[in-house]
Amino acid sequence: MSKKICVVGTGYVGLIASVGLSDFGNEIIGVDIDEKKVKMLNEGISPIYEPGVERYLKRNLESGRLTFSTDIGKSIQNADVIFIAVGTPPKDNGEADLSFVESVVKSIAENLNDYKVIVTKSTVPVGTNRWIKEKMNEFAPGKDFDVVSNPEFLREGKATQDFFHPDRTVIGYESERAKDVMFEVYRALNLISVPFVWCSLETAELIKYASNAFLATKITFINQMANLAETVGADIHTIAKTMGMDGRISPKFLHPGPGYGGSCFPKDTMAVVQTGDKYGIDMSLIRSVIEANDMQKARMVTKLEKLIGSFQGKTIAVLGLAFKAETDDIRDTPAFNLVEGILSKGAKIQAHDPQAMDNFAEVYPQIEYCKSEFDALKDSDALVLVTEWNEYRNLNLRKAKELMKGNFILDTRNLLDPELAKERGFILEGVGKG
Ligand code: UDX
Repeated sequence: MSKKICVVGTGYVGLIASVGLSDFGNEIIGVDIDEKKVKMLNEGISPIYEPGVERYLKRNLESGRLTFSTDIGKSIQNADVIFIAVGTPPKDNGEADLSFVESVVKSIAENLNDYKVIVTKSTVPVGTNRWIKEKMNEFAPGKDFDVVSNPEFLREGKATQDFFHPDRTVIGYESERAKDVMFEVYRALNLISVPFVWCSLETAELIKYASNAFLATKITFINQMANLAETVGADIHTIAKTMGMDGRISPKFLHPGPGYGGSCFPKDTMAVVQTGDKYGIDMSLIRSVIEANDMQKARMVTKLEKLIGSFQGKTIAVLGLAFKAETDDIRDTPAFNLVEGILSKGAKIQAHDPQAMDNFAEVYPQIEYCKSEFDALKDSDALVLVTEWNEYRNLNLRKAKELMKGNFILDTRNLLDPELAKERGFILEGVGKG
């Protein structure tokens, strides 16, 4: 039987969970303190850019199964299941800030009129679900509830696809009653034979961190190999492709680039190190990954400087500001390091991104934002490709050459064909192409 679910937080994770779970036939109330956002959502407008999300949003609003509200108390009272999907941003010491989670837990305790299952979707440090249980017992002694950990593995830009066709669904639980409820919530995924991992709260929490830390390590590994390859005159593309032919390695996540960014990898790797420190367990591998990734981001500025000589008085066209393609998210984007480096060394920036310019302008209002990639290229001395948007892959190099003053390209994602670029008169530097 479908469930009445309250999803607290309508950010990335909360919004996708709200539209996805209602599409599964559940009745959803998405809650947020931001009135403007709630109004937009009820009108079928997504506050974030994510392919497909508005289609699902509109469809489920129309079906009557999905609504959004600012009234957290009433929404909790009416629900059988409460999903916590609020932010857990890193504090200065790398530890996840759980103050938003704690305030939701308080609201749940105050409005616990019946048995409810409290599901943590936000990525939280190991031990948090047990802590939620203790807090609930403290705030609502003797009341009937269960706590479940259900970490999210969505990739931005592919979030709806990932929600409806996940590689696996992980559910940390402690009571059969809660397991039955979660089975109903995700009945639609059971029907299409998605693997379910039923495990303890701590195991579920650590699966999420272990997965993200591993992927961050894999990227960092190939980035360092790329740096070595370009120095010794080898080609990382062939190396990565050949490594990937070994089934134990797999070809995925072996694309070298300007360093990983986004809302998960930087935050989650820091949190793993923090958890290791807390329990006295050596996490030096992940600590090195974090350092190496910071160096990779900084390396892009050094590469550009080597390529063009002095930055003084130059104009640099930066194509791509989002941390990856198909998103307007700029959290921990490698573009920050490049833009900061370029500006601090005395050059001017003309930037373009198909989706992320508004967000970027809030942090860097002083650079010039252009309507098209060609406007950004006009009279520039060099081009830096930062995000792998499809439209940049097929950049018209003939037109680019005519528009630009200089002929340098730093391609941090190896998007362009080096031979063709050379033919068109460019001096192109990629990553890991010796
Ligand atoms: C990631 C995880 O994939 C997802 O499971 C988790 O829920 C959240 O974190 P996301 O941050 O959306 O998802 O992006 P992802 O596609 O994984 O890329 C992360 C970063 O790694 C990006 O900066 C991307 O450009 C970079 N990356 C990825 C590489 O540099 N090389 C690769 O081969 C793959």
